[in-house]
Amino acid sequence: RPRVLSGIQPTAGSFHLGNYLGAVRQWVALQETHDAFYSVVDLHAITVPQDPRELRESTRLAAAQLLGAGLDPERCTLFVQSQVPEHAQLAWVMNCLTGFGEASRMTQFKDKSARQGAESTTVGLFTYPVLQIADILLYHAQQVPVGEDQRQHIELTRDVAERFNGRFGTTFTVPQPYILKDTAKIYDLQDPSIKMSKSASSPKGIINLLDEPKVSAKKIRSAVTDTGTEIRYDPQDKPGVSNLLTIYSALTGIGVPELVDKFAGQLYGALKTQLAEVVTEWAAPFRARTLEYLADPAELDRLLAVGADKARAVAAPVLAEVYDKVGFLPAA
Ligand code: TYM
Repeated sequence: RPRVLSGIQPTAGSFHLGNYLGAVRQWVALQETHDAFYSVVDLHAITVPQDPRELRESTRLAAAQLLGAGLDPERCTLFVQSQVPEHAQLAWVMNCLTGFGEASRMTQFKDKSARQGAESTTVGLFTYPVLQIADILLYHAQQVPVGEDQRQHIELTRDVAERFNGRFGTTFTVPQPYILKDTAKIYDLQDPSIKMSKSASSPKGIINLLDEPKVSAKKIRSAVTDTGTEIRYDPQDKPGVSNLLTIYSALTGIGVPELVDKFAGQLYGALKTQLAEVVTEWAAPFRARTLEYLADPAELDRLLAVGADKARAVAAPVLAEVYDKVGFLPAA
């Protein structure tokens, strides 16, 4: 089975629809066909300040949501990044192979640090993509299922993997991004020129999967649509409507052309009302399953400990090989 690895940040509460459609939905599908490793990346989360108690809770909540979305610990390896120390260890080596210039070109860093201001930006945020390189390379992942916003980080991973292989002899698998075109970028409901995102979207622009159905329905009904009245798929001229059609199609499996036929002659309001139903119907069992996993934190922690053991069994020999190749003296 080909190997996949991906990760998601546990930051603050509920995943949003972009996380699910851009990434997590593919994770669930790939566990059937691939040897899949999925991580709640708490080391990445502390690149911006976190309250310790909240971080612990949101790490559990993230794991519960992944299980609620359909990950099955019998079919994949689900683990918390900080429980596998090899990630931080390999990241240091990768920091020493990544150019300052190439790290400086990462657009996510440039965006986030510009929003925060130089004084409150940490060095950790700067080397965040290097930790991601370590996450991927430790598992010899062939594919990395993510949304479009992660493509540049996967490109960097490929460059650094090739550099290591060139310098120290073939060691790492050079990974490919696995990005589904249709759902690679879900847009903000209030501003369809930007992606739906925890840090940049207004609360009204973002559908949180754990929100009350009423709240999500209202946000969808008040989504910004475009001038004109016709419902058609046209990301250039009708980004708002096109985004709603994308979401509708992804959650129902009905193709976009079919949806356009179905809504022919109807107004935007009809699309929004029906999409609100589609989203809230999808979210109800997701919420119920997530809350069930959350209700038994001891069992959740046990599942994650098993996942961390499985992950370490793969990661530890890879780190040992790297330590040997770069010339570290083994402990006697
Ligand atoms: P994160 O936690 O920001 O997002 C998790 C996943 O959700 C995708 N995503 C979206 N997809 C489509 N439309 C959107 N609006 C949208 N918003 C978010 C992201 O592309 C991502 O796949 N650096 C990563 C986490 C990470 C990782 C890794 C990923 C750490 N190590 C190793 C892959 C492999 C991140 O911050 O994702």
